[in-house]
Amino acid sequence: MDNNRQNATINWFPGHMAKTRRLMAEHLKITDLAAELVDARLPLSSRNPEIDKILGSKPRLVILNKSDMADSAANAKWVSYFEAQDITALEVSASTGKGISKIGDYAKKVLAEKIEKDKARGIHRNLKIMVCGIPNVGKSSFINKIAGRAGTKTGDRPGVTKGKQWVRLDNGIELLDMPGILWPKFDSDDVAVKLAFTGAIRDEILDVEHLCCILLEFLRSNYPDALCERYKLSDIVEKTGYELLENICKNRGFLISGGEFDTFRGANIVLNEFRDCRLGHITLELPGQTELVYKNEFGVLTYAGQ
Ligand code: G4P
Repeated sequence: MDNNRQNATINWFPGHMAKTRRLMAEHLKITDLAAELVDARLPLSSRNPEIDKILGSKPRLVILNKSDMADSAANAKWVSYFEAQDITALEVSASTGKGISKIGDYAKKVLAEKIEKDKARGIHRNLKIMVCGIPNVGKSSFINKIAGRAGTKTGDRPGVTKGKQWVRLDNGIELLDMPGILWPKFDSDDVAVKLAFTGAIRDEILDVEHLCCILLEFLRSNYPDALCERYKLSDIVEKTGYELLENICKNRGFLISGGEFDTFRGANIVLNEFRDCRLGHITLELPGQTELVYKNEFGVLTYAGQ
């Protein structure tokens, strides 16, 4: 592994947060509900740390998107986790369409009180939903899917920033296509590493082999069967991430001149295969068990185990 890059701090501070926060506040005034998209594989790490502050008391629906890529038992645990906090959560896949047809009913359930009040006052109007989330959680895919399904019309609307559109559904609901919320900073390296596993952060920011070793140690501890099956490995319990990576290179015949393993190639392949779900449905964090890595005495990110 490239030791000079091994200890590099993860640095990724998008500079658009203030603008996004302003835009969101503006749009929140004209919406009834915020549909917060998260990646079902890492529902907390794929949330903006300031989301609660930004959304305030706005009724909210958490959409666990990409649930087709996540562990189904874990999806159910996350739905319960949010429900325990009085937040309605729904498993969805913008790719397969799973859960998409339930969005309207769930939104109406969250807004039941408001709908009743409006009805009593003789008001009948569309419910407006703002779709939000960090980059890469699938906002565009989600809106396209839901729009396609409901046979929608899109159009500009007064009071909405140019370029933003309302997607009108047939069932009395309109969606606002909002840009993703960017992080002011990562709360921890742990969050950054998990986002990097999924490809939400560009690989160049991190050392690919190092990242792969952390992933392999996570899989060794949490999804050992999937790991062994995919890469024809055995006796993995005592192995470090780097040893696992070398074993994978050996089994796949990834060698460079001099008989050394081509761990760079191996690492890229493992990461890509993970992102393509070739290792199966994997969730990276569970309620109450979200810490994946810590900094050891050498300042190196290492998997902390369960
Ligand atoms: P964003 O607007 O929030 O930034 O996300 P976007 O819709 O662009 O989705 C980011 C990537 O995630 C895309 O893949 C998209 O296809 C994929 N994706 C979105 N929702 C789902 C889902 O529910 N399940 C799965 N399996 N994938 C999902 P990409 O490789 O970046 O682009 P593409 O080549 O697939 O279009």
